[in-house]
Amino acid sequence: MPASSIDKEMVEKLKGLAQQNGLYICGAKVRRSSSRFCLGVEHGDYNGTELFGVATDRFIWMAYKPNGTDKIKLFSGNFPDDGVIEFKLGDVPEPKSAAISETWGRFPYGIDYILRREGYQLKQGIDGVIYGNIPGGGMSRSASLSLNLILSLLEANGIEIEDKMTVVDLAQAVENDYIGSPCGKLDQIMILFGRESMGTYYNPAKRSVDYVQLGACATDFRIVVLDTGTVRPGLEKSTYKIRRGECEELVSILQKANYDISCLADIKDEALYEKIMAEFGESYPDLCDRLKYIYASQNRFYKMLEAWKAGDIETVGRIFREDGTGLRDDYKISGAELETMCDIVRTVPGVLGERMLGGGDKGASGALVRSESVEAVQRAVDTGYPRSCPEFADKYAVHICKVVDGIRIYEGLL
Ligand code: GLA
Repeated sequence: MPASSIDKEMVEKLKGLAQQNGLYICGAKVRRSSSRFCLGVEHGDYNGTELFGVATDRFIWMAYKPNGTDKIKLFSGNFPDDGVIEFKLGDVPEPKSAAISETWGRFPYGIDYILRREGYQLKQGIDGVIYGNIPGGGMSRSASLSLNLILSLLEANGIEIEDKMTVVDLAQAVENDYIGSPCGKLDQIMILFGRESMGTYYNPAKRSVDYVQLGACATDFRIVVLDTGTVRPGLEKSTYKIRRGECEELVSILQKANYDISCLADIKDEALYEKIMAEFGESYPDLCDRLKYIYASQNRFYKMLEAWKAGDIETVGRIFREDGTGLRDDYKISGAELETMCDIVRTVPGVLGERMLGGGDKGASGALVRSESVEAVQRAVDTGYPRSCPEFADKYAVHICKVVDGIRIYEGLL
């Protein structure tokens, strides 16, 4: 696969970082892992819904090479103050311990820990250098990093895992069990399976992935990410964790009342939904609001998928917008700056839909925009956002994204 000019630029950067930090990557491979954009159901993964999304062209690049020892040595150009993360395989801090909370080293530590726990014997250390341009919050930087490290370490150790869903599970376990982030599987699936020009459809009942060709639309459109410049703390410290807990609580209340469900996605039937809302709406209004979003969004999901297949981007945009209203008003997972971005772009002609993205509270919003309106969106954000959120005036960014392969490997660049 030929490297693009940004790939080549990043490889030069990695070369410089390696030299400055005494790491040896001459002849190394480069693995590029993408970000992701969820098209539905946002917050559906841990509620058991089907999922649809794409891999987008903001990336993490990692150059790595076996170093003939049992030591891992890694440097990240995004966290230079952490210096070189160095450890002997099998010798990492305890999961969720204080020692790991402030360093990005928790990702490689966690990967060593989880791979070992799951019976994959890592013996071969690597030297590696990492740099990425994925903004934090909303575009899945952590899943991208976890996958990149897992795939690179497995490869350097000659371990092949045929079932890609197993790799998804491992990456999720690193975040859930080692780092302590309660994330679902959405991010890992959309990155690991992501293909250029394709939407990835995931069915949890079968643990299967299918693809929908994008770009058959009569209207030329762009996926735009509106990074608010805010920093979101880990999901474990966010509203995310509370929402997950609420959804689980409602499932357990319903099970005790003899409803035969195992997750909120099981409430698909309208009569069942109405019955539950009538019975529990008054006693558990907040929990029922969460269900309201999941139920409505899951219903819209099938229409959205059909609209993608038919190339009807106007309908896709309208559903994306409706999801945003539900996430804001019923699921209550958005944040002030995220909604400011949405309010700004909603009024720009040619914006088909907009909503908050990802974990919630902070981070990025997203929009589906007619190609000819992208500049107008940029101008509207440049004018409106610094005025409304002056503290983030030099931190926000507008990313016009392409749909790309989630994972690529380059050889012969170093
Ligand atoms: C975060 C989590 C995902 C998913 C999304 C919301 O990105 O990591 O598992 O729950 O939020 O859709």
